[in-house]
Amino acid sequence: MEHVILRAEHLRKAFPVPGDRGRSIPAVDDVSLRIGRGEIVGLLGESGCGKSTLARILLGLTRPDSGTVSYGGRVLQHLTPRQLRPLRRGLRMVSQNPFDSLDPARRVGALLEEPLKLWRPECGRRQRLAEIETLLLQCGMDARCLKKTPPEFSGGQLQRLAIARALLVRPELLVADEIVSALDVSVQNQILTLLADLRDQYGLSILFISHDLAVVRKLSDRVLVMRDGRLLGQGRPGRPWDAGADPYVRELHGCIFPFPPPGPAK
Ligand SMILES: Nc1ncnc2c1ncn2[C@@H]1O[C@H](COP(=O)(O)OP(=O)(O)OP(=O)(O)O)[C@@H](O)[C@H]1O
Ligand SMILES: [Mg+2]
Repeated sequence: MEHVILRAEHLRKAFPVPGDRGRSIPAVDDVSLRIGRGEIVGLLGESGCGKSTLARILLGLTRPDSGTVSYGGRVLQHLTPRQLRPLRRGLRMVSQNPFDSLDPARRVGALLEEPLKLWRPECGRRQRLAEIETLLLQCGMDARCLKKTPPEFSGGQLQRLAIARALLVRPELLVADEIVSALDVSVQNQILTLLADLRDQYGLSILFISHDLAVVRKLSDRVLVMRDGRLLGQGRPGRPWDAGADPYVRELHGCIFPFPPPGPAK
């Protein structure tokens, strides 16, 4: 990997079992990983295996019980909330639920301008509006939405607004947690193309969490497979798994990146 932008070492996080005092289940269990600049990493795994918990830890939104995340030369767990703040511009998350980042009571124009005012104060209002308009178009929306409030949109439209909002500040790493599941296939393709373009244009790195093998295959340079809080293995297109790889990983890998890769018929 040429330039590692984020490195996680031995992350663990357990949550208490409700109604069973003293017992806890590990949601993330000894996970270490690296993400390179401009790399798109897919994260696959069954529901409840710990993908979102891991994502939140990587972005400094959830504190692990142990382990560290290094980003920008700092260890997130060693920083106070105040010291962590300036790093947030580079680490953005879009989640399955667009209302996590879009206040339903505010107009979309204000919601999109806010992160630009905060993180790119050098942009004047004109430039802010121009950038918002460009990104809205790239996300399949347009400036007509700026005067409306989130409840006036469909789920898929809201998801696109949340994606535009996260990308406006030009993050280094975008964690996309099931962001295209609610979108129909043509919009899905448009968003996947946009993410790949941004990677090519300015080296955006992406951790792409999805249940959908086809979507993961389309976008990822590398796929991590998670089960019961642990990373079982990883795969790359066109490469075989180690002989010792977990059967679950081999099975998934066979579906995502068939090996040997399909070639011309002999
Ligand atoms: N805040 C929390 N409090 C208690 N338990 C939690 C909390 N967050 C997650 N968990 C538990 O941790 C485990 C992993 O959850 P997580 O949301 O990370 O899974 P996931 O892989 O993202 O699932 P999905 O694919 O359904 O989104 C689950 O057993 C979940 O119930
Ligand atoms: Mg999740």
